[in-house]
Amino acid sequence: MPVELRDADDAAIAAAGEHLREGRLVAFPTETVYGLGADATNERAVASIFEAKGRPTFNPLIVHVVELAEAKRHVLFTAKAILLAEAFWPGGITLVLPRLPTSPLSLLVSAGLNTAAIRVPAHPIAQKLLKATGRPIAAPSANASGEISPTRAAHVMASLGHAETLAMVLDGGPCVLGLESTVIGFPNAGPTLLRPGAVARGEIEAVIGQALLDADAASGEAGRSSPGQLASHYAPRANIRLNVSAPRDDEIWLGFGSNQKSAAFNLSPSGDLTEAAANLFAMLRAIDDAADGRNIAVAPVPREGLGEAINDRLARAAAPR
Ligand code: TXA
Ligand code: MG
Repeated sequence: MPVELRDADDAAIAAAGEHLREGRLVAFPTETVYGLGADATNERAVASIFEAKGRPTFNPLIVHVVELAEAKRHVLFTAKAILLAEAFWPGGITLVLPRLPTSPLSLLVSAGLNTAAIRVPAHPIAQKLLKATGRPIAAPSANASGEISPTRAAHVMASLGHAETLAMVLDGGPCVLGLESTVIGFPNAGPTLLRPGAVARGEIEAVIGQALLDADAASGEAGRSSPGQLASHYAPRANIRLNVSAPRDDEIWLGFGSNQKSAAFNLSPSGDLTEAAANLFAMLRAIDDAADGRNIAVAPVPREGLGEAINDRLARAAAPR
């Protein structure tokens, strides 16, 4: 059956909830990126996520729940984790915490780890879908493995429109944040930034009153617990050169800021990192299509605030493969 693309009205959301309860996949908008959702308590349904994405390994997936009280049924919260949940949920932060033995979550969502990654999404369609389904929803970004995360329903259709197990794509328009959630782990060494994302490091540090450890600098425990950090995860087809202030004639330029009028594409002409984050994936796709054999040269993007996550995604896109 072909994948059904529907505007996310109440009837479509009810039908999507039914698909999920019956073990089929549904792609849906969140405030960060579109997710490829499955009933997180149904192991087969979760497995079909990996199959549809063609992931090379079983990376652990993010489990979406309707509210903090539901999250507490699945994982054990530390005091700092509670502070973060209260400050940022619903929203773009994911907490990796020890699974409770009584949790009905599929084991595959954790890819063999004794932790699970949980988040409460803010997007009203994601919230309605969780309520209609009545189950936690496991959802990685709704793109085939190695492709750029989708921020529009059309991106999902282009990447996964032929996946047999995907029943429906709910169209909720473009994602406002356009960057995946920030993933925080809580190994013994202390709160650790496992993946930079939509919520900036400084905002998180202000809430917990301490600096976040970095995944690679933290103990082996933290390093081991973030196997999803594939170097070439965000990968356009063209070769990419970073931190370029003067592109060569044979390159197509992805600019940032006001003094780059000659750039064919600009992440934010006004130099606004939030705008750049929202544009990032859609613009990488567009410039990759326009490159036509040329290399992409990317202007320097400052590393402050959301710039850390943007630079992380750009480095992955540029990684040799
Ligand atoms: O914004 C987002 O987070 C989107 C939307 C759909 O919610 N989802 C998303 O999921 O980006 P995914 O599967 O593409 O990324 C999951 C990230 C990976 O970096 C993975 O390694 C990490 O979360 N992760 C998940 N479970 C983990 C665990 N138990 N331990 C450590 N890292 C985990
Ligand atoms: Mg992804």
